[in-house]
Amino acid sequence: MWTTILLVIGAVFLLSAAYAAASGAPWVPTKKGDVARLQRLLNLKSGDKFVELGCGNGRVCRGIAEKHSDVEVVGVELSLLQYLVAQLQGARSHTTFKLQNVFAHDLSGYNAVYMFLMPETYQKIESKLLRELQPGAQVVSYVWPIPGWEDRLVQVDKAEGKLDLFLYKT
Ligand SMILES: C[S@@+](CC[C@H](N)C(=O)[O-])C[C@H]1O[C@@H](n2cnc3c(N)ncnc32)[C@H](O)[C@@H]1O
Repeated sequence: MWTTILLVIGAVFLLSAAYAAASGAPWVPTKKGDVARLQRLLNLKSGDKFVELGCGNGRVCRGIAEKHSDVEVVGVELSLLQYLVAQLQGARSHTTFKLQNVFAHDLSGYNAVYMFLMPETYQKIESKLLRELQPGAQVVSYVWPIPGWEDRLVQVDKAEGKLDLFLYKT
């Protein structure tokens, strides 16, 4: 009986992780040291609203929330297991995690976005970012640039032996 229940739970976790991987990117966390680089790169001010698209276990959201108690932090995640881990580790009054597809999440209230997704997902989501984000919003992509956004690029944060962070403004 318990074995069956555990197998069903495991299958649900696996299927939702596989679905998330197919629709945006598999789960690979941002490296811990790179969260500090992101914090330095983003110019966050009191009252800003930050969203992480595909927040995994919430490491980046927790890092942003710890440094900025006056910024509203939202993490959107499609994989059930990652979402539950983020919820368990990251609940704070100004941090919210949502179990949702990033393509269905309304971005209109945000002025800062971070994403670590596959390059083809950046290509698919860039028109949504431009349509819904406030003008002048900061968008940071990790590892890969956003295709077609060369004229919006503000800075590429490079560090020896580290992956690149690309800062854009809409
Ligand atoms: C490369 S990982 C990055 C995790 C986290 N952002 C970090 O940097 O530590 C990509 C995450 O996005 C999630 N994801 C992929 N496609 C998604 C989608 N369409 N909607 C929401 N989350 C998605 C995956 O489940 C995974 O946790």
